[in-house]
Amino acid sequence: MFKLDTIISLAKRRGFVFQSSEIYGGINGCWDYGPLGVELLLNIKKIWWHEMTSRTNIEGLDASILMHPKVWEASGHLTQFSDPMIDNKISKARYRADNLIEDFIEKLRKKNKNDLADECEQRLEHAQEPSDYYKIIMDYGINDPVSGNADWTEVRNFNLMFKTFIGPLDDAASTIYLRPESAQGIFVNFKNVMECGRQKIPFGIAQIGKAFRNEINTKNFLFRTREFEQMEMQFFVKPGEEKEWFDYWKEQRWNWYVKYGMKPEKLRWKEHEKLAHYANYAVDIEFEFPFGFGEIEGIHSRTDFDLSAHQKLSGKKLEYIDANTKERYTPYVVETSGGVSRGLMAFLCNAYDEEDTGEGDKRTVLHLHNSLAPIKCAVFPLVNKDGMPEKAQAIYEDLQKYFKVQYDVSGAIGRRYRRQDEIGTPYCVTIDGDTMSDNTVTIRDRDTMQQEKINADNLKMYLFDKLHK
Ligand code: GAP
Repeated sequence: MFKLDTIISLAKRRGFVFQSSEIYGGINGCWDYGPLGVELLLNIKKIWWHEMTSRTNIEGLDASILMHPKVWEASGHLTQFSDPMIDNKISKARYRADNLIEDFIEKLRKKNKNDLADECEQRLEHAQEPSDYYKIIMDYGINDPVSGNADWTEVRNFNLMFKTFIGPLDDAASTIYLRPESAQGIFVNFKNVMECGRQKIPFGIAQIGKAFRNEINTKNFLFRTREFEQMEMQFFVKPGEEKEWFDYWKEQRWNWYVKYGMKPEKLRWKEHEKLAHYANYAVDIEFEFPFGFGEIEGIHSRTDFDLSAHQKLSGKKLEYIDANTKERYTPYVVETSGGVSRGLMAFLCNAYDEEDTGEGDKRTVLHLHNSLAPIKCAVFPLVNKDGMPEKAQAIYEDLQKYFKVQYDVSGAIGRRYRRQDEIGTPYCVTIDGDTMSDNTVTIRDRDTMQQEKINADNLKMYLFDKLHK
């Protein structure tokens, strides 16, 4: 297994991901997507959007990031969306208390102190209040990994929502929040979308958009960031039918990742041990990153928690009336919630390979699914003379009208192939002497490295066919 640093370095070198505000030393938990990264992000969003909204019973939505503060009161985020945090008085380092304890348990296991580790793990599983975490840290004498001492503050709950002010006054009455999940924009629009889309239950609303969380510990590159995008779909169902739909969406979402190239052996289910206050079933799809398994998407059965809470606080009815039976109820919700940037990192890690190509030669290659590849095809003139650059340029300009293509004239053909392999370009087209005499071009396949000659007039159709398989 390669290291995460290998992916970070490739991502930077080839223009997938840069540190945000790098020239000022960067800002923690924020990343910028370069020319290839933005294409990959868009491709992930495109295939997800298509997967969801090509169904007749799923509508799209793009809700505002800034929402009425009462939304977060109703959803429980104002009081419940927090992490237990502890500060070390000497090093001033701040930790999530649960992470600090988890790291301690891991150390115990490495030292084969499994009984103690099990006992500590059990107590962690039952911890709910800040004082529970504090007691564990004290009882086991957990030290600060930075300074090595145990001079801790109390554990406090730290709300993860970013606060700002709306309008010119920065007073309490003007306080609003950057949304910590896109889902609430869907709940408050449930009725609008259902009515204008003339939808009947069961139906869903899909949305892709930014979410913000003031995470205490950002770590592992794009895994836990402070600004990220979510792809969320809330599926509204009749109460009592949520388990059936929960199982349905579990299967659909797993299959989606596999369809777009995720190796099934790198995925696993993680049942939630502690259910969130709003959920009656919840499961995560986890991917095996170089640092271990981590969640990439959650599937949650959220009951009628959100709609009921908004109904109560806003005083507006968010009910469904069955036209046939005249039954009236507040729908239950099954949610699928994936992170775009976490997905991007998982797709990159999944696709990354270092291969021996024989004769002591190695290549780095991204085996990205054709739909995800940022660049679909590269066009090379074999040499920079004899009319080849002009012909290659014309082919490049024609293909570029339909999908993202790169033109590359520098270096030996082998090196040009390697450059494209490293960014996951599925096809390379070379214009050579034969092209000038009989109009054939050579197409090279990234994965098999096989080459085939076809007539240049058929190139567009050939690529369309391959790319849309
Ligand atoms: N609406 C439900 C919800 O937001 P979540 O499990 O907190 O559930 C869903 O988040 C997905 O959003 C996660 O599976 C992950 O892919 C992504 N995500 C959550 N927090 C993130 C963070 N700090 N950085 C990057 N992605 C994050």
